[in-house]
Amino acid sequence: MKSLSPYLTLRRARLVTGCILFFYVTTHLLNHMAGLHSLGAMEQGRVWFVAFWSFPLSRFALYFSLLVHFLLALWAIYDKRRLRTIPRAELLQLLLGLAIIPLLTQHVIGTRIAESLYEVEDSYTYVLLTLYHFGPDKGLWQSVALLVAWTHGCLGLYFWLRLRPWFQAARPWLFGAALLIPVFALIGFLDGGREASRLAADPAWLRRALAAINLPSRDELATLQLLEERIYWLFGGLLALTLAAREMRSIVERHRGLVRITYPGDREVETIPGPTLLEVSQLNGIPHASVCGGRGRCSTCRVRVTLGFDDLPPPSASEQAVLGRVGAAPNVRLACQIRPTHDITIVPLLPSNASARDARPRPAHLQGREKDIAILFADLRGFTQLSEKKLPYDVVFMLNRYFAAMGQAVEEAGGHLDKFIGDGVMALFGADERSDTALACRQALAAARGMSAALEILNKTLAHDLEKPLRIGIGIHVGPAIVGEMGYAGAVGLTAIGDAVNTASRLESLTKEFNCELVISEDIVRHSGVDVSRWPVMETEIRGRRETLKVSAVTRAHDLPSVYNKATQTA
Ligand code: FES
Repeated sequence: MKSLSPYLTLRRARLVTGCILFFYVTTHLLNHMAGLHSLGAMEQGRVWFVAFWSFPLSRFALYFSLLVHFLLALWAIYDKRRLRTIPRAELLQLLLGLAIIPLLTQHVIGTRIAESLYEVEDSYTYVLLTLYHFGPDKGLWQSVALLVAWTHGCLGLYFWLRLRPWFQAARPWLFGAALLIPVFALIGFLDGGREASRLAADPAWLRRALAAINLPSRDELATLQLLEERIYWLFGGLLALTLAAREMRSIVERHRGLVRITYPGDREVETIPGPTLLEVSQLNGIPHASVCGGRGRCSTCRVRVTLGFDDLPPPSASEQAVLGRVGAAPNVRLACQIRPTHDITIVPLLPSNASARDARPRPAHLQGREKDIAILFADLRGFTQLSEKKLPYDVVFMLNRYFAAMGQAVEEAGGHLDKFIGDGVMALFGADERSDTALACRQALAAARGMSAALEILNKTLAHDLEKPLRIGIGIHVGPAIVGEMGYAGAVGLTAIGDAVNTASRLESLTKEFNCELVISEDIVRHSGVDVSRWPVMETEIRGRRETLKVSAVTRAHDLPSVYNKATQTA
């Protein structure tokens, strides 16, 4: 049952057939909704519904999907080595899916099959008379069945779509639709039922309606009941066979000896061959990320196999596709797709609390790489003393105005605002894939000019609240740094680390020593082509560097010549 190509996988088959069945249920519910208007509207809607689903291609797609989807559910039960490792929501989806057949069999036989075999008129009048007027208990049963099928489908769609980047934004709308469609459908069904019941109070109408329906005879009913019983037996038999096959397989696997899995920290577990690595982790209480619940979609369960990699069977096409999507190294595999048959040593690559966000493909520059970037550090001078004389509310107000002004200057120059540290600012330029070093340096200088100008305006605005104007110190350097998304939980963002970052920070602190607003390294000057000949050049030692660094001390950043055109992103 392994995949034959990326386009023909069990996962894809389950998804496609599930979508077809969900579409069928949705059109069915929409038809019910017409009952909000009248029984006549329901019948009219049914004409369209039947016309669409009796078209040979759609009819084939429906029956084929029903069969394949059911067989895939049995396969899922067989394939899972330990049912208790299935996440609760997925277990619920599986159980709801299995419940659909026994819940809906009677209805399908009484309508579709009775119509095919005995030309019973499968109209809404017939359904509402039997499920509302004559047998409200059956109507309740069918309503539950429909809700079960709907919930099963919604859960399946949720598991599929939750990894999409747009899902969070669409979530309220999708949940709203998932709730409102069945509610309105049931109200429509009840309204239609009430109308049918009212009409049935007229014996002449009822006689005509029953004649038009062409109810099955006693013998025909007995045949339909027999068919129903056989379907229940067949369903139960296939389920029992699947469970028996699982049991036999685990007896065979238990005789194959044990496999040792070694986790980081020399933690070892022994397991029989058969379960996936993810199942082994879960069964042994080892936290392991699995956003998609082991369906091979999210990649969050990926592990680096440091020993025993060659003994693993090669990845399937779908596993390869997922690993390729995240640019995984050659010795990385999905824990939910490999079933170790030999000892292996692995390192999970994502923390166990990885979220759907970690499952999305990310641009290469977010995943970590070394790149030449320009780094800007800025710090408010003397703000600590100033804040001691102010009320906390005033301090927060002033700092937020300052952060907004500095942040805008950085963003307008095309930079990435990395973080605010106390009253300091760190910004990166050229961190994305397309930027070149010269452009990054010019952008950083443009940001420094903008920050200086913005501070002047801020000083004028706050003149009444300040004893003396706010002053800033800015340091800019360019060099190789490791750039990527780093952090933990909610505090994850694009940042950079490395000597170049430390140097930029050091240049910022030199502004105090040189009594100037901006200190830029000679590398910035060279790459940007900016003319700073009117300002002094100093040589300074930087911790961690063997050679001294030439820097220019610019008295006021606002006086720098413009070297960056924001509109064209050029010099
Ligand atoms: S758990 Fe999602 S790919 Fe393995």
